[in-house]
Amino acid sequence: MRLRNIPGAREEMLVNPYVIQHPETYKGRWKEVFGNDHALHLEIGMGKGKFITTLASKHPEINYIGIEKYSSALIKGVEKREAMEDCKNLFFLRFDAEYINQVYGPGEVERIYLNFSDPWPKARHARRRLTSPEFLRRYEQMLLPGGVLEFKTDNQELFTFSLESAEYAGWKLLEATRDLHHQDTMLLDNVMTEYEEKFSAMGQPICKMIIQVPEIGRRADTSK
Ligand SMILES: C[S@@+](CC[C@H](N)C(=O)[O-])C[C@H]1O[C@@H](n2cnc3c(N)ncnc32)[C@H](O)[C@@H]1O
Repeated sequence: MRLRNIPGAREEMLVNPYVIQHPETYKGRWKEVFGNDHALHLEIGMGKGKFITTLASKHPEINYIGIEKYSSALIKGVEKREAMEDCKNLFFLRFDAEYINQVYGPGEVERIYLNFSDPWPKARHARRRLTSPEFLRRYEQMLLPGGVLEFKTDNQELFTFSLESAEYAGWKLLEATRDLHHQDTMLLDNVMTEYEEKFSAMGQPICKMIIQVPEIGRRADTSK
């Protein structure tokens, strides 16, 4: 699925009411954006948004934010959002998650979804993987105690890296499979993403892990 540049997408994302501008100004007060104190769940790297728009319509009792760094992908998610009637629980950020700690304060987020994240196969780019110890450290700073991260991918190497990264960073592995679509309990309530539809149609097994943030005293020092 190659992402084509959509002329005007960037300009539209700067004015669309569902795309929050200057998100760092809401750090520590995201409840005000939604006007309630429901739990906040994020999808980082949402692409064209099928996953998060589906979840938002299934769970009005949860607040969702989809984060995507490219306007040409994000605009597709925004279009899906515009077609949803009576949806009050979903906004978007056009934003690079590397700076996510500028946007969410301690304990503001209950759950993070990462779906088919870019693999960055070269070792020298490992820190850019959204499941690297460096990113897990960023997530730790904003997740509630007991908060979880759910990660799906078709990439076996990235999955192995992510399991090792989670262990290294002191996260607790709650569930894992290398064949989600044949694992009945984990498949319950599964919402397919655009990439998941494509890869599973090609017969590729889908991997999934669910990990839980470490307690504060048990966090690894991943800064070295
Ligand atoms: C391979 S696509 C998967 C899209 C979607 N999650 C799916 O499963 O269909 C990965 C997406 O993550 C976005 N992405 C990668 N790194 C990112 C980052 N640091 N911050 C925000 N988005 C990111 C990319 O722009 C791309 O749209």
